[in-house]
Amino acid sequence: MQTKISLASHIGDYKFDNLLLNAAGVRCSTTDELEKTLDSMAGGCVTKSATPEERAGNESPRMKALPLGSINSMGLPNHGIDYYLKFAEENQGQNGKQVILSVAGLSIDQNIEMLKKVQESAFDGLTELNLSCPNVAGKSQVGYDFDAVRDVLTATFKFFKKPLGLKLPPYFDFNQFNGISEVLNDFPVTYINVINSIGNGLVVDPETESVVIKPKGGFGGLGGDYVKPTALANVRALRQRLDPRISIIGTGGIKSGMDVFEHVLCGADLVQIGTAFGYEGTPIFERISKELEEIMDKKGYQTLDDFRGKLKTI
Ligand code: DOR
Repeated sequence: MQTKISLASHIGDYKFDNLLLNAAGVRCSTTDELEKTLDSMAGGCVTKSATPEERAGNESPRMKALPLGSINSMGLPNHGIDYYLKFAEENQGQNGKQVILSVAGLSIDQNIEMLKKVQESAFDGLTELNLSCPNVAGKSQVGYDFDAVRDVLTATFKFFKKPLGLKLPPYFDFNQFNGISEVLNDFPVTYINVINSIGNGLVVDPETESVVIKPKGGFGGLGGDYVKPTALANVRALRQRLDPRISIIGTGGIKSGMDVFEHVLCGADLVQIGTAFGYEGTPIFERISKELEEIMDKKGYQTLDDFRGKLKTI
C-alpha cells in the first residue's frame, strides 16, 4: 500500500519531491554540509543566513543542547553572501532538489545590497529573507516591527523580481497575527516560514547557578519541543489570514513523522527541521519520511493535500 503514498509538495512552481528540509542555521554553513543534505532524502536544502561579508558570530559557548530542545545565540556566523550564492547557482534544481538561499542583513541597506546581488545573479530558486534573528546584540527582530517590515518589502519589491520568502519570528497575540498578515497580503511574497527560534529565552543551570551560553548574558533563541505549540499556532493563524497565493513553511519542534503531520494539518506546505536535525544529521529525513508515510497509510491518506489545513476545531 505504501508505494502509493507521496510526500511531494510545492511552493508556486517550485516542486519538492519530499516536504522535509533543514532549517536555516543547522548543518548548512559549509558547502560540504549543504551537499550532504542535498544527497539525503530531504527535498532540498536551505543555506545558513548570509550577511554581506563573512562573520565569526558570537562568543562561545553559544549553543546548548537541552533535554527538551536547544538554546542558541550563534550571532549569524557565516561565510558571506558570495559563498552561498555561488553554491545556490551551482546546485539549484540539480537532481530535482531545491536550494533555498537565506539572507539576513543587519540593516535594511544590507538586505537590499544582498537582494540586488541575488537579482543580478543566475540563481533562479527561492530566496528567504530572514527578518527574525534574535541573536545580534543591539539589533531587534525586524519581524516584530510591522512598519519596518512594510519598509523593507516596499524597498525590496521595487527591484526584486524573483520569488521571495520571509523567515518570521513567532507571534503570540491575535493583534500580531492580524497586523503581520495585513502587511504581507499587500506584497507579492511567495511564502513565509514560521517560526524562527523563540527569541531571548533564558536557561538556568541550578548546579552552577549560571546561565548556559555566553552571549547577551545568557539570553538566546529556543528550539525543539519547547516551541512546537507556538510554531503550530503560527502556521495555523497565518494560514487563516494570508492570501492563498502565499505558501507556508512550518518550522519548530519537528522530530517525528507525527510532528510533521500536525504541521501539515495546521496548513504547512513544507516543513523544516532545526534542533533535531542538529542532533541526528541527515538520516533524520529518511526516518521521519517513513514515520509520516506510516501515519498516512494508517489513516488512508495518499497525498499531503488529503489533510493539509484540515485541522478540526471542537
Ligand atoms: O536562532 C537563530 N539563530 N535564528 C537566526 O535567525 C539566526 C541564528 C544565529 O545565527 O544566531
